[in-house]
Amino acid sequence: MTWLLLLLPKDCKISLEVLIGLSKLTIKDIPVEGKRVFVRVDFNVPLSDEGKVLDDTRIRSALPTINYLLEKGCRIILASHLGRPKGRVVEKLRMDPVARELSRLLGQEVRKSDMVVGAEVEEIVNALPPGGILLLENVRFESGEEKNDNKLAAAFSRLGDIFVNDAFGTAHRAHASNNGIARYLPAVAGLLMEKEIVYLNKSKENPPSPQIAILGGKKIADKIGVIHSFMRQADCLLLGGAMANTFLKAKGFFIGDSFCENDKLAEAEKILAEAGNSKAEIILPVDVVITKELRAESPYEIVKVEEIPAGWSAVDIGPETVIFFKKKISGAKMILWNGPLGAYEFAPFNKGTKLVAEAMAEADAESLVGGGDIVAALEELGISDKITHISTGGGAVLDFWEGKELPGLAVLQDKSG
Ligand code: 3PG
Repeated sequence: MTWLLLLLPKDCKISLEVLIGLSKLTIKDIPVEGKRVFVRVDFNVPLSDEGKVLDDTRIRSALPTINYLLEKGCRIILASHLGRPKGRVVEKLRMDPVARELSRLLGQEVRKSDMVVGAEVEEIVNALPPGGILLLENVRFESGEEKNDNKLAAAFSRLGDIFVNDAFGTAHRAHASNNGIARYLPAVAGLLMEKEIVYLNKSKENPPSPQIAILGGKKIADKIGVIHSFMRQADCLLLGGAMANTFLKAKGFFIGDSFCENDKLAEAEKILAEAGNSKAEIILPVDVVITKELRAESPYEIVKVEEIPAGWSAVDIGPETVIFFKKKISGAKMILWNGPLGAYEFAPFNKGTKLVAEAMAEADAESLVGGGDIVAALEELGISDKITHISTGGGAVLDFWEGKELPGLAVLQDKSG
């Protein structure tokens, strides 16, 4: 259990005895000394137009694994995707800025290859000294990556003796560099993968009650599975963001020009109809911030959901809804959150998300967050350290909460096996 202590943030609100370890082998369970280790990381980070890394959280999160392997004198081959180049070379999505940032964080040179695989890359790997690090070019420049192509997976495997998957954010994908490669090499988890799963297990296995789930973002389509899962598992489901508009319309409210997934109205109606028999109480906004134009600082008004006029769009939850959400949050023992509650990128329509984030940080509850905008809100407010666990994953967290198998995890060797 001592290793768990190392995973926990200082101000941790989670009790040790209920953390459930990872059932997969990790780099600490196998001999790695002196080996060539192929590490799949998720360095899919936001870049500025000038190619500067805007948020290095995902790079920093991989440091414990990289540092452990450095201590063991390994030669480290790092592989990641960046964006969605769809099997083509896209100059703006080369990994060079990431290599520079990692080099800065580690205080040592990180080599970067201009190719993903092939004889040239194999030569660079073979010339790496113990403790040397190579970052491969964007793996999604290869058309075989997303197809989980065997040939590409085999080519990756020639670059290492061991495969380590530390890319939790990509664990919901079955691609050549995070799944196929395990057909050819012994496959174990990295320390970030382990940490993510240990925390997320807590939200599923015997979670503290009441458990509140908060879902926002634009599309219901991305969240139908997790909504159903929370309806069975959570005590209360708070819905906000643009996807709440579709539910409001399904309830019969006029929503003006608000974003709405009309093709998901029937699904939303079904969910609302089933809500009466589900464990979770589903709570929708009672008031909203409306504007005529979605841009920063555009004039706005606050209205009840039954009063949205024609020509206006709902872009954030209103103050009464915030009070209502805060009340639910203050009584929670566990809070799970994915997706912003308003048009977060356009201030002041990020206010609802920020106020609810503050309430979550103040609550006497364990809190697990996944997805970029809330993480950004927590950072801006300087309250990230008050959250039990901020995941590096977005889609991977949703799939986990939905109960789906994560292919990048499933493929790793079991502790018992
Ligand atoms: C993410 O940013 O959620 C992961 O890196 C996965 O990226 P993808 O959705 O493009 O597969």
